[in-house]
Amino acid sequence: MTLEAEKLMNVPTIPAPATALPPASSEVHVRNMDQYKALYEQSINDPETFFGEQSKALSWDRDFDKVLYHVGNNFSDSPAWFVGGKLNASYNCVDRWALQTPNKVAIIYEGDDAEKGYSITYSELLVRVCQMAQLLQSKGVKVGDVVTIYLPMTPEAVISMLAVARIGAIHSCIFAGFSPGAIKDRVIDSNSHVVITCDKGYRATKVIQTKKIVDEALESCPDVKTVVVINRDPSSPFPQNPERDVIYPDAAASFKSYCAPVPVDSEHPLFLLYTSGSTGKPKGMQHCTAGYLLGALLTTRHIFGVTPDDTLFTSGDIGWITGHTYAVYGPLANGATTVIFESTPVYPTPTRYWDIVDRHKVTQFYTAPTALRLLRQYGHEIIDKYDLSSLRALGSVGEPIAEEIWEWYFNYVGRGRCTVCDTYWLTESGSHLVSSIPGVTPMKPGSAGLPFFGIKPAIVDPVSGHEITERPAEGVFAISQPWPSMARSIFNDYARYQDTYLKPYPGFFFTGDGASIDSEGYIFIGGRMDDVVNVSGHRLSTAEVESSVLDATMDGESMMTECAVVGVDDEITGQALVVFAVCEPWLKDDIASGKKIPQDISIETILIVRKEIGPFAAPRKVYLVDDLPKTRSGKILRRVLRKIVAGEEKQLGELSTLSDPSVVPALIDAVKNQK
Ligand code: WT7
Repeated sequence: MTLEAEKLMNVPTIPAPATALPPASSEVHVRNMDQYKALYEQSINDPETFFGEQSKALSWDRDFDKVLYHVGNNFSDSPAWFVGGKLNASYNCVDRWALQTPNKVAIIYEGDDAEKGYSITYSELLVRVCQMAQLLQSKGVKVGDVVTIYLPMTPEAVISMLAVARIGAIHSCIFAGFSPGAIKDRVIDSNSHVVITCDKGYRATKVIQTKKIVDEALESCPDVKTVVVINRDPSSPFPQNPERDVIYPDAAASFKSYCAPVPVDSEHPLFLLYTSGSTGKPKGMQHCTAGYLLGALLTTRHIFGVTPDDTLFTSGDIGWITGHTYAVYGPLANGATTVIFESTPVYPTPTRYWDIVDRHKVTQFYTAPTALRLLRQYGHEIIDKYDLSSLRALGSVGEPIAEEIWEWYFNYVGRGRCTVCDTYWLTESGSHLVSSIPGVTPMKPGSAGLPFFGIKPAIVDPVSGHEITERPAEGVFAISQPWPSMARSIFNDYARYQDTYLKPYPGFFFTGDGASIDSEGYIFIGGRMDDVVNVSGHRLSTAEVESSVLDATMDGESMMTECAVVGVDDEITGQALVVFAVCEPWLKDDIASGKKIPQDISIETILIVRKEIGPFAAPRKVYLVDDLPKTRSGKILRRVLRKIVAGEEKQLGELSTLSDPSVVPALIDAVKNQK
């Protein structure tokens, strides 16, 4: 056990506030620790009975024949859930509520301009989903086709996702902060022939030319034959391509207000979501219909304690998994109301979140520590004047939440009445893996808490690959049993899926994170063990950023011979990217002769990454260096670079493997001189 882990685990236990429990009338919710324990035991020892029972929360077109089926054991032979069953995700999220409670609000939209919000009821949502679904069908979209969605946080993003699901197609949402280069790669990899986007996006008064970005990306995507453009501002023009573009809502208005959903097999893919891995090529994580939807429904119900009378506000974007599961599928599959928020937490004032919670009587609020760190700087006095008494659960996701931020959230936002759900999960898991349950589980600030039903955690020794069963323990965080919402594949690359998740520790699903577990089973997440950096809760692979630096050109010539990207601590964003790059000889000559200024080259490199990947991936700093610290076999020792940036030159650790130790003082100088 490292000292760090021991310190982390030595935190006080905070009792579960009873005020965080869902209303007593909602029978489906877990109400106490004994019940949680009994259900958890059953979910692990007899997952078929447990999930068979829980699956009744979904509406099925055909009942399944078997809850869990796998050839061989565990993960090795692609487990399948609810085999033989048929269902439709949009039916589950829209129709059944439109039939039962047509006038209930499904979506509350909060725009960048706080005055421009509006709501959509379940019956209105059904019409809009049906019309969009028929529009897509009229453009040739069939069962199993992938449709790319590049939209900001708008009701149309939700409508598009559900419309794609309604006709058995597969959506692939791309975060609307990605640049043309990243969009192009994802459109091509997913073999999308149809893209849904909009004319413009709005962010803190800034107008984003969304359509222009998509047009640029599609210049290199000849297979895209249709672009559905949500026309958000009919009063101002946007670039159009009459042969390819279809304008919404006009084009959808002529379709009937109802079309039947297409039932699909349980394992039929529902969506792809690209995420970064340890190589430069983004992975299209493939989620299936029944298992994913059930995971979204159950975690929203049991972890957030959502009832159909609740309003859940997830600030995460639909371009990431948090938005998929907790802004769209989770709340709607439970028949609740979801808040879709397009702006930033500080626009027009840093009270935007609290104002939304107050006005809409939000019951569950879900955000990331990076936003909380930002908001805490404005002091708690500005929160105090809002009525936040509707809240029961306060969610946090994306990175560990430090104790002081946890306490601020608990005391000033939750006023001691709410449970802080530090939800640990990942794109691959589809839904929460570990979290506290409101009003049920005692909390330990800094710990994500206890595992959700069906999640059997394992702490694995990174060297031997064996599970460490003593408690407390520290090691690699893995999962030792299949769970319904786990990603089924990487799109078109099952071998890479196996290599990344199943082969590193045979018999386990490898999360990529390190963790420790205390004697009561509370899990403390350490952080990524691969070259993945977490910037503002966005997962970025250092390899992806490196490859865009290596592709950078100036005056038509390649700029860098080699580079290394590392993540360093950042007060607001959690981590930030720092690049170490070695210039090509011609550029070195130009610098030596004074023709080029190093600072300009650094800035140019930052701009290139911004343009290639997206503004959120912009490195904080690019250091130009003569050489990188490498082992004799040529592997870059990134840990040395991380320590140097952090100013911890005295703790560089073992350096005997370096092929040329003299690079170290040169790097230290470079960092000092290029402030
Ligand atoms: C990685 C997954 C899951 C939605 C958001 C990010 C880190 C996530 C926590 C948490 C500590 C966390 C992990 C994980 N992470 N939640 N509560 N405590 N770390 O999804 O982009 O797939 O990133 O985020 O490192 O592996 P993602």
